[in-house]
Amino acid sequence: MPWSIWKAGYEPFEKAGQDSVFLATPKGNILWTCDPAIVKQLFTSHSFQLPVDLLKFYDIWGPTIGSVEGQEWKTHRKVVAYGFSSTPLPVVWQRTIHQTKTLVERWARDDYLVKSPRIWMSRVALHVIAGVFFNTEMNWKDTEEGGSDSQDKEYQSSLPNSILTIMLRLGVLFMTPTWLLGRLPFKATRETSQAFNDFTNYMLSIRSRVLENLDEVSSKRNKTMLESIVVAGNMDPTDPESKPLSKESVLGNIFFTMMAGHETVGNTLGFAILLLAIYPEIQTKVQQELDDVIGSRPKETWSLETDYTALQKGFLGAVINETLRLYHPVQFVPRTSIAETTLYDSAGKSHVVPPNTLFCVNYAAAFSNPATWTKVSVTADRRAELQHSRAIDFDPQRWLKPAETSDVPIHWPFGQGGRICPGKPMAQVEMIGVLTTLLKEYSIELVIPDQVLKETQGDRGKAWDHARDNAVRQLQESVEANLTIAMLKDLPIRLQRRSGGDHD
Ligand code: HEM
Repeated sequence: MPWSIWKAGYEPFEKAGQDSVFLATPKGNILWTCDPAIVKQLFTSHSFQLPVDLLKFYDIWGPTIGSVEGQEWKTHRKVVAYGFSSTPLPVVWQRTIHQTKTLVERWARDDYLVKSPRIWMSRVALHVIAGVFFNTEMNWKDTEEGGSDSQDKEYQSSLPNSILTIMLRLGVLFMTPTWLLGRLPFKATRETSQAFNDFTNYMLSIRSRVLENLDEVSSKRNKTMLESIVVAGNMDPTDPESKPLSKESVLGNIFFTMMAGHETVGNTLGFAILLLAIYPEIQTKVQQELDDVIGSRPKETWSLETDYTALQKGFLGAVINETLRLYHPVQFVPRTSIAETTLYDSAGKSHVVPPNTLFCVNYAAAFSNPATWTKVSVTADRRAELQHSRAIDFDPQRWLKPAETSDVPIHWPFGQGGRICPGKPMAQVEMIGVLTTLLKEYSIELVIPDQVLKETQGDRGKAWDHARDNAVRQLQESVEANLTIAMLKDLPIRLQRRSGGDHD
């Protein structure tokens, strides 16, 4: 079952005694694989494509980069890639730091108690994306209390509100035709319908404005993502082959990119925060690195070129890599063979696969295969006591050991080949930016419930061990997969000001 793939990890392959398992089903053949050599071919060979028929539910506005193939995909990819290239990463870096700073100010109102880190982290990611895509400033009032209604009579809700509702109601949007949404008598469908209409109208009016001033917008150095997509999706007068992107696809790509970039980053950060709270010694190492790299300089001087680069290559980058290894937001990626093809596995053995075979690249198995990833030394009894949680094997240090050279990648949280995630640089900048801003001034701590303190008769050491073990178990039991892997249960943390940290 798709939702248990992450939980099963490498176990089904271990039981089968091989890294690829072929299933013959009445609906067709499926090959589940975590073999790095086969995965590389699936991602990079032209004999394999995305099974787009299974992904049409993304086409709420129109075809998007994530639901088309072949020449059509190339057009979408070119347009979206142009959007990313004209969105400077220093802007993403600055916006991320600013949003995280305002988030901590918001948390101060709750005495720095954070009930669900994942939800707040997804909001930070959404705020950054909205800023970069539409040059709109989302604030915590917008995303928490529904924000202010639109000042503009044409719209019922503000742009930030319509974005937020759409992102929160993806399930409703995917399952209900948009013409039906407003006619159903439910609050959820009514709100989604309103957000859908408002978002569509906002986007169309911005698109019209860009088209009316195309020359001026085209020559702007820093365009928003929406402006870039409209400009790049317009006909190229110097290329007779170029095809314009329909207005439905302009909106579709904005929606898809926002959806792909919001929960992925938010969920990863949510996991990273919990892991750092569980492992204070690792957190201290990150903070030492932040003190070395950033010193006591104020936030306005933190630079993408020097600070981000050093941290990304250093221990903080290793923490993010390790989080993505254990809690990769994407749990599997599908491909389909368009012709009979020969695949070579990691042992060099060849396998002929028929056309129309469905392939599923199993991330959870590949990233926990004990032949590739050494486990942390913990007894079998202790592993059982902690529900065999993946959090037991959190070891960022492994990323700082010299890598063995091979042309077959063993870690691909962002995919590989032509369809590799175009948002990877942006995601990395956001993740480093958020954690840097939080950990430079604060430490993240698990919250010890009063009940546990009572049970341990006020012994704080014992109580902490109890809270840590509970958190480790939750990081297995309460992890679920919908579109992405997420920690569904609230696991509260609290920020504590660092005594040595510098405060603006
Ligand atoms: C931790 C963060 C992220 C992870 C782990 C991730 C992972 C992935 C993966 C595995 C794919 C490839 C799927 C395939 O091969 O079929 C992908 C595609 C994509 N991602 Fe990301 N992503 C992340 C963040 C982002 C961000 C921040 C954005 C945009 C703001 C984004 C936009 C996209 C788009 C548009 C595609 C489709 C590319 C195509 O089909 O050509 N992603 N992502």
